Amino acid sequence: MARNAQITKDGIRLYNPEDFAGMAEAGRVAATILDDIAPHIFVGQTTGEIDRVITDMVDAHGSKSATIGYKGYKHASCISVNHVVCHGIPGDKRLKDGDILNIDVTVIVDGWFGDTSRMYVAGKLARKSERLIQVTHDALFKGIEQVRPGNTFGDIGHAIQTFAEGHRMSVVRDFCGHGLGQVFHAPPNVLHYGRAGTGPVLEEGMFFTIEPMVNLGRPETKVLSDDWTAVTRDKSLSAQFEHSVGVTATGVEIFTLSPAGKFHPTYGE
Ligand code: MF3
Ligand code: CO
Ligand code: CO
Repeated sequence: MARNAQITKDGIRLYNPEDFAGMAEAGRVAATILDDIAPHIFVGQTTGEIDRVITDMVDAHGSKSATIGYKGYKHASCISVNHVVCHGIPGDKRLKDGDILNIDVTVIVDGWFGDTSRMYVAGKLARKSERLIQVTHDALFKGIEQVRPGNTFGDIGHAIQTFAEGHRMSVVRDFCGHGLGQVFHAPPNVLHYGRAGTGPVLEEGMFFTIEPMVNLGRPETKVLSDDWTAVTRDKSLSAQFEHSVGVTATGVEIFTLSPAGKFHPTYGE
């Protein structure tokens, strides 16, 4: 008999040790798709074509897209170009030289959700874009470093915020990470800002995403009339990286590590 699911007082589910393998497999599939999509990103390519290839890859892995049909969303990925913060809808727009883009994929494998996103560039990466991408990437890992039993969610947010703001960039407040596992979005909201020592205490068996969005300008966002696309209000560039992680007895397991070691766009060149 399976044990009853345990829920903390903050409404956060604690998964069992044997559940980590399911998350690792879902995470591996999502990360492999992000590895394999890299050659499909080039100047002149449309985001719709990239999403079409991702749709085929999700299928080829025998997985299911978590986003197709989610609240009426119709695509296997979100593709967020330049000042788009998140939830960019793939379409006919062609990538231009120097465009930076986040691709976010969530798959379901045997009922487990793997959610990850990373940054790519079309053509030549400009210096200021490279700085933004590097700081956002490193901010995610500052957050991940805080993941261990006994720390708090506030410790994660604080580490991300102080790092990004220390580089004179800003952290988006309007979107956050989330619990996941056998569901896509569950408690808690994982804020990418906050005060150390505040918020729910991390416990072994918690599964959640950390997915900071960092802007070169101000943190405010707005959602376009398509009801999905979130952009920076000041039109400044925005970047994001996302991992799905689990709290182990002593620290963290990252479920969505890149099997090819290509999480960062300048890796593997
Ligand atoms: N993958 C996104 C996240 O990180 C959610 C996308 S929902 C969609 O939580 F419907 F926009 F695809
Ligand atoms: Co997510
Ligand atoms: Co995501």
